[in-house]
Order: sequence, then structure tokens, then C-alpha cells
Amino acid sequence: MTQAPALPHTPVPTRTRVLGEPLNRVDGHVKTTGAARFSAEYPFPDLAHAALVHATVTRGRITAVDTEDALGLPGVLAVITHENAPEMKAPPRPSLVNMSTLATSTTVNYLNTDEVHWNGQPVAVVVATSLEAARDAARRVRVSYAQLPATTNFERELPNAVAQKNSGLIPGGGGKGDADAALEAADVSVDLHFTTPMHHHNALEPHATTAAWTGDRLTVYDGAQNIDWTRRHLAHKFGVSHTDVHVISTFVGGGFGGKINVWPGTILAVLAARVVGRPVRLMLTREGVYRTVGGRTPSAQRVALGAGHDGRLTALIHTSVTQLGRVGGVEEQVVSQSRHLYDAENILVQQSQVTLDALSTTSMRAPGESIGSFALEAAVDELAYRLDLDPIEFRMRNEPDRNPLDGKLFARRGLREAYARGAKRFRWQDRTPEPGSMRDGRWLVGMGVATAYHPSWQFPANLTLRISADGTVLLRCAFHEMGMGSATAFGQVTAYSLGVPFAAVRVEYGDSDLPAGPGAGGSAQTASVTSSILEGTARLKRDLRRLARRAGVSPAESPGAILTLAGRDHLTATVGSDTRLGQLGGQVRFMTKFLRDRRRYVKAACGAQFCEVRVDQDTGEVRVSRWLGVFDIGTVVNAKTAASQLRGGIVMGIGAALGEETLVDRDTGRIVNANLAEYHVPVHADIPRIDIECLGDPDPTMPLGVLGAGEVGIVGVAGAIANAVHHATGRRVRDLPITLDKLL
Ligand code: MOS
Repeated sequence: MTQAPALPHTPVPTRTRVLGEPLNRVDGHVKTTGAARFSAEYPFPDLAHAALVHATVTRGRITAVDTEDALGLPGVLAVITHENAPEMKAPPRPSLVNMSTLATSTTVNYLNTDEVHWNGQPVAVVVATSLEAARDAARRVRVSYAQLPATTNFERELPNAVAQKNSGLIPGGGGKGDADAALEAADVSVDLHFTTPMHHHNALEPHATTAAWTGDRLTVYDGAQNIDWTRRHLAHKFGVSHTDVHVISTFVGGGFGGKINVWPGTILAVLAARVVGRPVRLMLTREGVYRTVGGRTPSAQRVALGAGHDGRLTALIHTSVTQLGRVGGVEEQVVSQSRHLYDAENILVQQSQVTLDALSTTSMRAPGESIGSFALEAAVDELAYRLDLDPIEFRMRNEPDRNPLDGKLFARRGLREAYARGAKRFRWQDRTPEPGSMRDGRWLVGMGVATAYHPSWQFPANLTLRISADGTVLLRCAFHEMGMGSATAFGQVTAYSLGVPFAAVRVEYGDSDLPAGPGAGGSAQTASVTSSILEGTARLKRDLRRLARRAGVSPAESPGAILTLAGRDHLTATVGSDTRLGQLGGQVRFMTKFLRDRRRYVKAACGAQFCEVRVDQDTGEVRVSRWLGVFDIGTVVNAKTAASQLRGGIVMGIGAALGEETLVDRDTGRIVNANLAEYHVPVHADIPRIDIECLGDPDPTMPLGVLGAGEVGIVGVAGAIANAVHHATGRRVRDLPITLDKLL
């Protein structure tokens, strides 16, 4: 084993009064009592309501729009189509140089074009004095089209997949050695194909926007995962300064990646408000979300593994094909965990994409890893069985000391400990390896494991901290609270760092008038904001020491006492800058440090997923009966909210494993189950008690030792279930979801 060099040390006390405590969320009361206002709940006396008209063809041109019936309905104020819509700027091309351009969801300039690019694209927006009138009128707008041939069949396009280049932040492929030859020569091998369907986020709060113009100033209430991107995107589209766009996003009813980009509903609400000259609310229907907000790509994957009789991997091949829309989409890191998880001598990973006439795909909780881990972890389990090895033992034999592809250091890697603790707590030793060997009456019982893995990211975060003579502290930062407990966690970090009580800290967030925060995405918000809080509190503490020295006050006094005795009302620290130049500078400095860091370290949260399933011997019904996840997310800022996030990820993974599937008509590309009745998310009765354990040791390279917790929880879940189903039944299901028809 190679001895890792000493890592930079971030001291984190293991026991403090505030850091890590399972405090209740500060926004919990207003949310559970209904007092919290979401984007569709802001009242205006002259509020108008908007509804979208969606294209019913997949590709073509609009030849005519008949709006007469719609305009004749009482209360209808306007029907906006490409024939009468004011001009907007085309959306900016997404570029890493100016990160806010990544808000662009599609290249379509809605209602400024007669072209249709996907089945469901908005082709008109109706504005009326009531929601009912707007929706009724939208149904009466008749659109005629000249259709063009469209490419919509994902499976049929697989042979046309194009290999992804290594140009962006997410690498397309890589490897070491000769994996094909090693696979051929291996003592034991598997060569398997997996498929996963399209998924949709289904946040509890459908996308909603309330927009109001005052002259050239725009106020927008919009549940967003990136307020600053939303503000800059709207400023660009409507040709105003970003400082004239005020985005308010205090509460977000879930996002899961579906609220990172700016989708057509937001833009068209703002357009409608401009056209009718009064505030407009556009609340998407559930169907509207499916038609206009991208989902998770489907995938076709190959995992081929070769090993010696000693149980050491010699070959690991993981390739994926995913989908892009012709108007946009994301290249998900489906094979990325295969670069980091197993110490094979020969590795080959490659991602490819097909392009369809469909809405852009987008990030959805652990984009890539959540579906990639299903294939990898199921294949690992299959090979362990071929080798007659316990699946945990097989993983531990191939647990690397350094990053397998390039020998980089792991900043931390708690997988051995996670599996050891988990196996004990889950009573893995009670498992008899033979498939079908464990029963409970009519139920076939199976136990499975899989590894969770999610890279750790950080983005720039601007904020101000103000400490007052009355002992209170105010943190101001436009970060996002979409239900994960951010405001509480950052209050805890601030209180801990300044040594003041949690109750003394007030947090303002979710508003573009505040210093721009990072997006809530990539599991990066906590580490990103924590880093800036630590910078700000370090400055405040230095200033307090100076003040104390000058005023002849003991520096051991509380901050409030020092300020009072020194005759000062408050002290402020500003971290980062909100000017465009300042932000660009911050971005460049940040990326330089980030990339330097990444040249040395692989940083990630990881974990071990343990599950038990029961499969009805006659009907094939699968019930998940027990769950334990042991995670290494570095320092835990709040034990309750961290566990909730991990639990939520597992629930979503159970959905992907057993029920969730966006059904796309292969001939038209039209989503046919665009509703919660036919898209099956898990309900309470589907979810057992979920035990969560966090190792809790800090990551020495991350601010306060914090990795991310939002996404790692879903990773490995579908793999663990597939493995448990095999253990229960002897059947390997390699296409998600594992519905009962596949087990009969
Ligand atoms: Mo996450 S899919 O980056 O919200």
C-alpha cells in the first residue's frame, strides 16, 4: 500500500454545541402552518393568469393559429403567439467562461419562431383575469402545422451514438491498460447490458412564476435552484440590466435539478406580464412540467468485468449511451464512478449520446451516477456470484488506495468503514448467499448491497456577515432553500464559527437583492457557502480582536460585549463581489484554485447501501422491507437535515428501482404518462424505516470538512435493490424499473 502524503489539516472539534446538532429547521414552522409563500402565492390586486398552449406535433412549422374562440371567452386579455409576440433576444449559448449562460435550457426563442422542435413545446400563451379562463381559452387555441420528419426513437438511434469528447468539465472517456484484452483473458467475466428509462423530477411544487414589470424593472417570484442565473438569463432575454431584475425565491417546493435552468414557463410569464401591462402568474400544470421542463435521460449501458480466481478485478469496461435534445441537453456522467470505485488493472470508460427531436434532458438528482451505479453495482454483484465470493468481500478486495485511473489521492474514502459498520448493523452475516434460500411464508427474502458515490464540488459564494452590539449576527446570501435545511445549516456554521448562540444568528436568503450565492446543485451549496462564511467570520474575528485591543477590552469577551465596550454599533464583512467584473474575477480565482486542487485529489462523498426486499412468490410484487445507508459525507453540519436529505435520495432511488418511468411514444416523442397517476413515484406505504448513519469525520481538503449530502443518497439504491431481488428470486433484472411482470 502506498503511503499518502500528509493532507492539509482543517481542525474540526468533534463535540460542539451547535455544529452537527440535529436542530429543527428554522423554516419548518412557516412551512407546516402554510404561512410560507411560494412563487404562485404572491397576491397582486390586478393579477392576471397565464396558461400555455403546447405543440401537438414533434417537428415542423406553425402554418396558422386560430385564436378567435379563445379571445371570445370572457376574461381573456391576450393570446400571445409567434405572430404578435414582442421580440426577445435569443438565449445565450451555454459556456463555462460565463457560467450564468448555463441557465439556458433550450436554444429555442419561444414565440419568436414558427418552428416546433419537440412535442409539447409552448406555441402560445393565453392571459386572462382568472386561472380557469386562461386554461379554458388555452384549450380553444387551434394551431395548424406543416410537419417534418422527426427522430424520436432512442433505442433505434443507439447505433448512431456519437462518442463524447473530453472537452467540458465532465470527461467523455478514458482508461488505462488494455481492458478488451484483459477481459478476454480473464479467469471469470461478465459482459452485461443495462437500460434505464427517462425519469422526471416531480417536485411537489410545480414550476410557477409570478412576474411584474414596473417600467423596465422586473420583479419575478420564481422557485429556482439558481437565482443569479435566473436573473441574468431574464435580463439577457428582455434586454434590461440584471440589476433591474429582482428574483425572489424564498421557498422552493423541491427541485432535484429541475429548477436549475430557466425553462419556457418562466420566460413566457415575464413576456405575458410585459404584453398585458399587469402582473401575471403562470403556474404550470403537472402535465405542463413534463412538456416544458426536461427530465433525466434514458440510458443504455454496457458493463463488462473480468477477474482472476483470486477475486481481483483485471478488466473494467463501462460504456453508456444517453440522450440529448436537438435544442439542448446535458451529457450526464454515467460512467464516472467507474473511474474511482474499483482497483482494476485495465479500465475503459466511454460515454456517448444520441440526439433526438425532443426537449433537452437535464440534471436530475445525481445525474449520471444514479443510473450508472445501477449498472456497475449490479454487474459487480453478478461477478461476485460467479466467483463464489460475498459481494462485500469482493468489493473490499478491489477497494483502491488511490484513484485507479491516475493514482490521484483520495481526499477521504470511508468505504471500508461504511461497509464494515453497515454489515454489522444490518446483520449481513444472517444472509445465506444462495438465491431463493431465505423465505418468510409466501415472501422470498433477499438482501443486497451497493456502493454510493458522488463527486464533491464547490462554487463561488458571495455573502455579507454583520455582527451587532446587541450580540446578533446577520448572514445575507442569495442561496437556496428548497427543503433541505440550508438556512438552518448556515446559521449553525455561522454560530459555530463565531462562537455565538444559534438563536443569535439570522439568515436572509433566496432573493437576488442579496449577494449572489452558488446554485443549489451538484451537492455543492453547503461546502460553497460554508467556505465563504468561514472567510467572513475569520475577518470579523480579526476585526473584533483589533477593536478589543484598541479599546482595552479583553478579547475573551463576547463579540457583542466587545462592540458595546468599544462604542461600535456593528461590524460587517463582505465576501466576494456582485459586480460583473468582480464576479468574473472571483470565478477565475475560484476555478484556478479548484482545478489545482483537483489535479491532486479526488473528492467525493460515498457510502454503502444495504437493503432487504420481499418478493411475492406468486405475483412477483417487490416490497422493500429494510434499509440502511452508511455514508461518508465528511463533517455533518446538522444531523437531522443531513439524514433527511440522504433518506430522500434513497426514497427517490426506490422509486427509480421499482416504479418510475416516463413513457415516451417512440414514434412521436410525446410523453404519454405526464401525470402523477401514471408516473409511479413511491408513496409512504412503499417505504420502510430508513436507517442512516454518517461516519462524520471531516474531509481535510474541504471547508470545515464538509462534502455534499444532496445527491449521494440516491446512488447505488437501484443496484442494491436489483441485487436483493436476485438474492430473493435468482432473477437478474437489468432494465429499470423492476416491475413485477419482469419477475414472472
Ligand atoms: Mo442537482 S441534479 O445538481 O439539483
